[in-house]
Amino acid sequence: MTIRIYVPGDAAALSVGAQAVDEAMLREIAARHLDAAVIRNGSRGLFWLEPLVEVETPAGRIAYGPVSAADVPGLFAAGFLEGKPHPLCLGPTEEISYLKRQERLTFARCGVIDPLSLDDYIAHQGYRGLARALTLTPEEIVEEVVASGLRGRGGAGFPTGIKWRTVLKESAQQKYVVCNADEGDSGTFADRMLLEGDPFLLIEGMTIAGIAVGATMGYVYVRSEYPHAFRTLKRAIAVARDKGYLGADVTGSGKRFDLEVRLGAGAYICGEETSLLESLEGKRGVIRFKPPLPAIKGLFGKPTVINNVLSLASVPVILDRGANFYKDFGIGRSRGTLPIQLAGNVKRGGLIEKAFGLTLGEAIHDFGGGTASGRPLRAVQVGGPLGAYFPAALLDTPLDYEAFAARKGMLGHGGIVVFDDTVDLARQARFAMEFCAIESCGKCTPCRIGSTRGVEVIDKIIAGRDRTKNLELLDDLCELMLEGSLCALGGLTPYPVLSAIRHFPEDFDKPAEPRPVAAE
Ligand SMILES: Cc1cc2nc3c(=O)[nH]c(=O)nc-3n(C[C@H](O)[C@H](O)[C@H](O)COP(=O)(O)O)c2cc1C
Ligand code: SF4
Repeated sequence: MTIRIYVPGDAAALSVGAQAVDEAMLREIAARHLDAAVIRNGSRGLFWLEPLVEVETPAGRIAYGPVSAADVPGLFAAGFLEGKPHPLCLGPTEEISYLKRQERLTFARCGVIDPLSLDDYIAHQGYRGLARALTLTPEEIVEEVVASGLRGRGGAGFPTGIKWRTVLKESAQQKYVVCNADEGDSGTFADRMLLEGDPFLLIEGMTIAGIAVGATMGYVYVRSEYPHAFRTLKRAIAVARDKGYLGADVTGSGKRFDLEVRLGAGAYICGEETSLLESLEGKRGVIRFKPPLPAIKGLFGKPTVINNVLSLASVPVILDRGANFYKDFGIGRSRGTLPIQLAGNVKRGGLIEKAFGLTLGEAIHDFGGGTASGRPLRAVQVGGPLGAYFPAALLDTPLDYEAFAARKGMLGHGGIVVFDDTVDLARQARFAMEFCAIESCGKCTPCRIGSTRGVEVIDKIIAGRDRTKNLELLDDLCELMLEGSLCALGGLTPYPVLSAIRHFPEDFDKPAEPRPVAAE
């Protein structure tokens, strides 16, 4: 029987040499005349172990990592195909503590299956959600999603089922489902991992969404920096269409639903839903006024469901196992599981899917192993570039939308970026304003002008000029941006700035640094 070897084709693994490992494996198999095949799976999300190679043995899958091309002949010589010991052997993959302690619902198949094999997807419970959805009325599907408590994973945490209900109630000749795969937040990669490791899951989730709200066409907007995800998804869509899972008659149900992929325009603001719709229509990514909501007047003016990759990818398991099964995970109003992305100065970065409620400290220390530098942890930014900086004293905050909001932070897309004690929070605050100035769409004054003025004021504070007066000015400016911005880019930039001042005031009171200050 052919022995199956798994070498991830995921971008994170490729970036640390997975392609060379694959080639070395193929050379070794040919030279030794072995009956073995290499499967390019997605990543398991244990990034410090990439390239993480697995071999299927009668005792289950055995992991080795991090493997370099130079290690490959030695692995074969040591009997790696039988799962024999080697210094790089990590034992049974599922027993690796980082993975074993997770509750993988959305990422259950990621890294396990061949991402482009529909048979493999179906053999691992794939398309069971769609099968059940096809036995229900559109209203019943929507109410199942409402009852599950699923909230949007793109950042705002809006209840997904309620959004779908609005689109379902609209009567229109044409409706759309749009997937937001722009994933612009710093320290996030879950959307990419899913697109590369389990693309049929997103296709299934979008198909269910289409059937639920009466949309016959869907688009996935993938950020331009994700060429591998773009290619994998395109191929998966072609396979699904070929096998009758997309098209005029989805699995013989008489329902039509088809999908296309579009490459993003390379701007952070194109991740904001109305900007994304503009970009999808071929225009410059500029915010639209709301109302009307996209659910009423979205893509090409038609009622549109727009959801993040992870929101849509959570739907198949909800339909398959039922709303109550999903709702049993989590705390408070944050139901289900959260794919947490651990990044920055952390020993064991990667993807951790857990029920909401794990604390920030548990994620960083128990899973992440603390800082990579070994220095004390000083700050954590959660929720992307617009998220607040928390000090070590707030590591007891549970990963829960409301708990973060109560501490003037936000969970966003679940990205956690860790900093050690070498970080300068005044510089990070300046970076937040500068980021906003660069990425602003320019439509409203508080953000377009305010962010540029914000950089100037912070420069003066760092340079030690009229610190008290300039800190008051910065506070005023932040209030104006919070209250007066048209969208959350300008509206949330004060979060990282004000949290840096609140939790790390000493960084704004250091001896003046000689640095150029813009002319007044
Ligand atoms: C500046 C900005 C950038 C955003 N970027 C993303 C993004 O990259 N991906 C995403 O899913 N949502 C992003 N959002 C949130 C979307 O506007 C929108 O809320 C989301 O796509 C809705 O899907 P959900 O309900 O499934 O979360 C962004 C919002 C703002 C204000
Ligand atoms: S807040 Fe910034 S990004 Fe948002 S509409 Fe105003 S100018 Fe555009």
